[in-house]
Formats: sequence, structure tokens, C-alpha cells
Amino acid sequence: MTDPLLQIEDLTVTYGGRSLLGLKTRGVDAVKGANLTIRPGETLGLVGESGSGKSSIANTLLGLVPASSGRMMFDGTDLAQMKDGYPDVVRRKIQAVFQDPYSSLNPSMTVEQIVTEPLKIHATMTRADRRARAAELLRMVNLPETHLPRYPNEFSGGQRQRIAIAAALALQPKLIVLDEPVSALDVSTQNQIINLLYERRDATGMSYLLIAHDLALVHHISDRIAVMYLGHIVEEGPADRVYHQPAHPYTRALLDAVPLLDPERQRARRAARRAAPPTDLPRIAVQGCPYRHRCPRAIDRCRSESPRALAVPGGGTAECHLLEPSGTTPPAQQTTPGAKGPASNTPPRKEPA
Ligand SMILES: Nc1ncnc2c1ncn2[C@@H]1O[C@H](COP(=O)(O)OP(=O)(O)OP(=O)(O)O)[C@@H](O)[C@H]1O
Ligand SMILES: [Mg+2]
Repeated sequence: MTDPLLQIEDLTVTYGGRSLLGLKTRGVDAVKGANLTIRPGETLGLVGESGSGKSSIANTLLGLVPASSGRMMFDGTDLAQMKDGYPDVVRRKIQAVFQDPYSSLNPSMTVEQIVTEPLKIHATMTRADRRARAAELLRMVNLPETHLPRYPNEFSGGQRQRIAIAAALALQPKLIVLDEPVSALDVSTQNQIINLLYERRDATGMSYLLIAHDLALVHHISDRIAVMYLGHIVEEGPADRVYHQPAHPYTRALLDAVPLLDPERQRARRAARRAAPPTDLPRIAVQGCPYRHRCPRAIDRCRSESPRALAVPGGGTAECHLLEPSGTTPPAQQTTPGAKGPASNTPPRKEPA
């Protein structure tokens, strides 16, 4: 197996925690001891409900938010130690595409200026070289060269996202962080952008950290999937295993939220949901499993002891006491959502090398 491109170990991200007067206050722990690995050419899908800490991981990786503790080994460098921003040599290797193509592009810059902005790192590049590279980048995202002198407000959301992708590709990065890159687009545009991302990945061998809400879409296009809940990575593993045999009760709940096309199964699911016990959701779980308040299978131990990551048959890990041989409930049940939801016409998933 190849060495990881990125290895995040025990990463904690805390917002606030200090008042203006220098007095200590309690901060928000958005990420709590997360471990993640991405190998060259691999796509890691990161899913979880709103507020679970996905963007906090992305932004820490991009150097936009400092790590409170832990390591982020990227291509031989610990990014968590770089408190004063990344040097150019690192910045060029990690690029990002964000959710909102309306706010992420500078409205006062032309397309040519936007896609060549990252190239300014190369002080020696002539204007003509930059223009030629800009035209080449537009071709890569299937936009005509004639768009180069135009401004972002002349384009649709999908076209803007193509421009953002072209800019991200400019420096031939090793990793692109995609934070909900298609959430703001309609379904058919989503599929076009996903197709484009995969075409580019296959052509270059770069890696993606793909953050998305739609587990069906993530399953189709990721090699591995990590599932976040309240700042914890509660499960991680090969995409097929996580999708078809989820080991953590939270992953199963997420999969249950994937729309089913079969009305009979949809009715059965709603009935099961109504029968589930009522749940509350405190923000800060001091001890025990973070999911215990919502878990239909919680046992006493889940309240008193934090679960550790346990190996799951088929690959990966999950943090759930029930996976221990001494657990009272059998571990992963076969769960195969009937319909693959809106991603069913996305391209076939690339198998890991
Ligand atoms: N700049 C900030 N200052 C304080 N708290 C923040 C900040 N950014 C995020 N948080 C908090 O950190 C937690 C995780 O937020 P984050 O944006 O990482 O979640 P997310 O999984 O990306 O959610 P979404 O799916 O809605 O984008 C939330 O409780 C959020 O309110
Ligand atoms: Mg987010």
C-alpha cells in the first residue's frame, strides 16, 4: 500500500475559549480527536449532519483555522505546527473549492485573472505564458476560451463552479478540499460537476477530500467514507463497506435518511422512526459515547465510557461499544438502501489502486 498523502491524527479544533480580557472561557470543540488518512489518488468522502465539524476539519487543513492540538502530516510536513500560515511550497499543493460559487469568486476580476491568480507564485511566468495556461485551464473544465475576458456575474452557478475548479487546478495540487462543491447546484448541474471532478482526478492522480451531505452521492464517488458526529469521526472505512454494512448506529441512521423510491419501504421506515424513543441532543458530551442520547441501542456502558475505534469486518473502524465481542447487540446489520437517490446517474466509482 502506498504511503498516505495526508494523515490527520488526534486533531482537535476549538473556537473561542478566551475573552478579550484574556480570561479563559469555555470554547466550542468543533473537532474532537479526529483521525483521517488520504492516500495519493484517493477520494475520502466526509459526511455528517450540519454542525458536526466537517468544514472545521477542511478549514484547519487549509490553514484558515488553527488546530488546537494533534497532527496533520501532509506530504512530509506537519501542517498543525504551521501557526503563521502556509509557505507557498505547501499552499500550492492543497487547493479548495467551496460550496457557494457566487461568493467564492471575486466579482471584480475577469475569468482570466481568477484562474491565473494562483500562478503569480511563479514570478518568472510571462503574461503570454499565463494567458496560454488560462486557456488550457478553461479547456480542462469544458469552458470556451472566449470566456476569459468576462466577469463572474455573467455566468450560471455551474459555470462559476467550473471556473473555481479551473483556479484550483492551476498549480497542479496534490489535494483538493471540496467543501460541499455541488450543494448549491441543481441535480443535473451537480452531476456534470461531479463528472468533471472525476475526469480531472483520473487524469492527474490527485486526491480529494469531498465533504457532502448526500451519502448516496458520496458512496458513488469516494474510495473511503468517514462519518462525523458532534466533532467525532464515529466510523471510517471503504466506501462500499460503510454504505452497505454500516457498523455505527449513526451511519445507519444517516443511510435511513437516504430517500427510498419504493413507497412500501418508505412507509415501513417512517413507522420504524415513529416507534423509536424520543431523543435529545446536548452539544457537549463530557464522557461516554457522543451518540448515546440518540442511539436506539445505547447500553449503560455508552453513558459512562467513551468508545474507542474498533476494527470492522470488511475494513475500517467504528467507535461503538456494541462492536466489542462482549456487546449485547450484534454489530453491523446488512443495510442496503433500495434506491441510490439522486446520485444514481453519477459516474461509476473509481476503485482504489
Ligand atoms: N468561526 C466559528 N466560531 C465559533 N464556532 C464555530 C465557527 N465555525 C464553526 N463553529 C461551530 O463549530 C461546529 C462545527 O461547525 P462546522 O461548520 O465545522 O460544521 P459542518 O459539519 O461543516 O456543518 P454544515 O454541514 O452545516 O456545513 C458548530 O457547532 C459550529 O457552530
Ligand atoms: Mg460545513
